[in-house]
Amino acid sequence: MSSAPDSRAARNRCAKPLWETARPRFVYNAQRWKPLIPHTPIIDPNNMSYIRGTTKNARGITQAWRSVQSRGMADAAAPATRGTRPDSVVYLPEDPTAPLPLPDDATVFSMIQPTGTVHLGNYLGALRPWRSIQDRCEGPGQRVIYGVADLHALTVPHKGRAAAEALRARRQECVATLLACGIDPARATVAFQSSVAGLHTELFWQLSCLAPMGYLNRMTQWKDKRGGDPQRERLGLFAYPVLQAADILVYRATHVPVGDDQGQHLELTRYLAERFNAWFECDLFPVPRTLYCGGGHGKKVRSLQDPAKKMSKSSGDPMSLVYVTDTPEQIRDKIKRARTDSISSSFYFDPENRPGVSNLLDIVAGLQDKDMAAVEAECAGMRDYGAFKGYVTEVVVEALRPVRERYARFSGDAAYLQSVADRGADAAGEIAAENMKRVREVVGLGARR
Ligand code: TRP
Repeated sequence: MSSAPDSRAARNRCAKPLWETARPRFVYNAQRWKPLIPHTPIIDPNNMSYIRGTTKNARGITQAWRSVQSRGMADAAAPATRGTRPDSVVYLPEDPTAPLPLPDDATVFSMIQPTGTVHLGNYLGALRPWRSIQDRCEGPGQRVIYGVADLHALTVPHKGRAAAEALRARRQECVATLLACGIDPARATVAFQSSVAGLHTELFWQLSCLAPMGYLNRMTQWKDKRGGDPQRERLGLFAYPVLQAADILVYRATHVPVGDDQGQHLELTRYLAERFNAWFECDLFPVPRTLYCGGGHGKKVRSLQDPAKKMSKSSGDPMSLVYVTDTPEQIRDKIKRARTDSISSSFYFDPENRPGVSNLLDIVAGLQDKDMAAVEAECAGMRDYGAFKGYVTEVVVEALRPVRERYARFSGDAAYLQSVADRGADAAGEIAAENMKRVREVVGLGARR
């Protein structure tokens, strides 16, 4: 870094974008390797030019970021990419036939919590993209691992025999749902987190010894989930993101398909991977990228009863969501009662003024992989809600038919589900064991390299 008096002006003229000039990512400071920026600034790839300039220290970056914020661009970036260097995110192409932007040796990894039945929002935002990734990962060294995060499930209030039995049922149901949504155990490894628990939690511990309390304290999910109740403030909930980082890094995953709500967790994972590599002067962990699944139609499904809110199980209103396992009658009933508006002479996409109708159109576009103009054209001749909602119902019922049928087939077959999970546990355990051996060597717990 130059100390010439005009260096600031020179830096401001700097033509390179921020993340390039910010290298090296680690600065040696007071005997410690510090990441240059634990929370990298928001970068809206379309507006990168705004954050060129002062870059050589974290404060400069924060200032650059503030200037981005003050220009009102914070909201332009999707939450999953908020606070993320643009090269940390890869976008899942919206065209389901386009090749995946993944290298030949990619390890794709993600997990789902066994919280019960999957709704349309989960399906369009996560499970259908997972399937499409699995179907297109054919590179010689590419692998795909999907897990059921049953250890994370213990961070919600969980006490008593009934709760234990409910969890047992839900984790099995979760495997059935993955298979119903088209996850194929011959192409993707499906495993319970708890089946490889020893290795996940061992790496969790290692990462806990690197993870700054201040950083975890600034994360938001544990604050939301404790719900203002000090009884719920548990170490497990606080440490949840570190276990998630361990889940990802124990497989040395390179790409993690997630939607909007996991951006912060993946940023922590990258931070811990870099910190580990820097501390132990190795390159053991690839810095995993977000494989962003939150774009396109149908990815932000809203509640049927209150389109201002996301479709979510926690709303407590079963009429506000469509489960992938709902019967055609249930789907018809829910869509019939979905909140819309009083304009019935035409049906078009206008989320601001017609949130209810737009949500239904968005669901149709998402399920059919069509663009909105095509869906609007389908609805052009409709003059009442009966016709419009009938059409939406038809699309949803048909699109979910294979899922519903497969679910009915698998959910009763406990032995098959167990065998899938057992095979998955073996395959996942093998990869994780190999990686943990290397972690132990590097940190000084195993035999010398
Ligand atoms: N936290 C994720 C969720 O709530 C689940 C999860 C646990 C996960 N471990 C993970 C997701 C690792 C991706 C990678 O949805």
